[in-house]
Amino acid sequence: MAELTNPERRMLRTLQNDNKKWTLDEVLVACEWDDQAIAVAAGHGLTNQGFLKTHETSNRDVILGSEGEKAAVDGLLESRLWQFIQSNPDSTMKDLSANFEKHEAGPGIGLLKGLGVTIQGGKFATDNPSSVSSKIEERTEYILSPSIDHELFEHFKGRKKLIEVVELVSRTWTVTENGNSITSEDLEEVVKVAEITPELLQSDDWKEAQFRPYDVSLEASMPRSGRSHPMQALIERIRSIFLEMGFSELVDDYVQTAGWNMDSLFIPQDHPAREMQDTFYLDEPKKITLDPKLLADWKAIHEYGGDTESTGWGGQFSEDISQKGLLRTHTTVNTIQYLAQNPTDPCRVFAIDRVFRKESIDRTHLPEFHQIEGIIMEPGANLGMLVSTLKTFYAKMGYPEVRVRPAYFPYTEPSLEVEVKWRGKWLELGGAGIFRPEVTEPLGIKDPVCAWGMGLERLAMLVLGLDDIRQLYISDLEWLRNQPIL
Ligand code: PHE
Repeated sequence: MAELTNPERRMLRTLQNDNKKWTLDEVLVACEWDDQAIAVAAGHGLTNQGFLKTHETSNRDVILGSEGEKAAVDGLLESRLWQFIQSNPDSTMKDLSANFEKHEAGPGIGLLKGLGVTIQGGKFATDNPSSVSSKIEERTEYILSPSIDHELFEHFKGRKKLIEVVELVSRTWTVTENGNSITSEDLEEVVKVAEITPELLQSDDWKEAQFRPYDVSLEASMPRSGRSHPMQALIERIRSIFLEMGFSELVDDYVQTAGWNMDSLFIPQDHPAREMQDTFYLDEPKKITLDPKLLADWKAIHEYGGDTESTGWGGQFSEDISQKGLLRTHTTVNTIQYLAQNPTDPCRVFAIDRVFRKESIDRTHLPEFHQIEGIIMEPGANLGMLVSTLKTFYAKMGYPEVRVRPAYFPYTEPSLEVEVKWRGKWLELGGAGIFRPEVTEPLGIKDPVCAWGMGLERLAMLVLGLDDIRQLYISDLEWLRNQPIL
């Protein structure tokens, strides 16, 4: 048996063993309640549980409309006009217009005419003033207590907003056999604590108290308050996972040079991704001057491998290309600069930041998106460490199944593609690998560096179950309100 509320207990105990149909008023008196809502709710609950039966009958009734309410207080229009005419027997239409509202005088005369008043020589006249008075009297009485079977009902129904017909539902309750079979001990009212207050906790009362259970299956209204955008909330969550895993956050500019964005990462200068079609080069600043020593090192590495064992890419390295301004195409441009500034201190660093690529917008592409980037530099850092770090991260995000596949990036060796399983399918979320000597040696980095870069929006699509990336940024309020708290 479901737990009965106190009002339900009281109502059933009161109504039990009486075969009659209980009206709302009788229930209120018998239960000593003033609030109808309590009785109705208890009756409803007991009916749902099969202890009462609710009988509903509906009746048509008439109530006053907005004009009727006014008439009940100030008098009907015809009554007010008639009084005026009687106390000013010589009054004319003009006088009426001067003493009544514009919208009243015209219709008012119409009403009086209907009662036998005429206009003669500009003045009001009637053969039978007392009949006019008594008809008005009758109408006034009707307005004071309107009813549906009265002969004046039709008359008032034809007038604007004087009366309204309403459907009245009246309820009665009878106790069912089940309801009668509950013992009165089971119907004793218990004091249950619905709210846990500091006072309650400070006193010892809570030890003896009974607590009202919550019914979490009930419909409840959604509180609508301000909240973070789901992307922001996701970023916060990722940030706290990396912080928890001992990483520190790196935040840097998105205006960068081609040198740091590509050359430092041993991306050949004729690589297709560097073309204007793929990268946003800047007019302002068109050129960002780089340290000549840095340029010379990259030149050596790219052309013949510098001091490393690499043979480089061959060809002619251009310092002008290196110093071109662009919008970063990946956040690796920032982690590599961090390493250049801190080449010897072991570190774990991450960044969650915006990158830019000349993509045409479609279901899975945006020209502006975010990457989740990270590096681990320490003696003995290796592929196993890289993979287990990524697995730990995705497991904390709620994706325990992660796999890696061989891939290619000019700056890592070996290189990996990271995939997570989602709804039975493997989805590619990013790249990873160990930085090549061509990248680390010119910068004086001695320890191995594990690095990865993943798409944030891709992950957001998984987390939010989206099949269109654009949904994240169209500011659809209804959609935003209905997103889960991340
Ligand atoms: N920078 C790569 C990208 O933008 C990802 C990556 C980062 C790959 C670090 C390997 C190492 O897709």
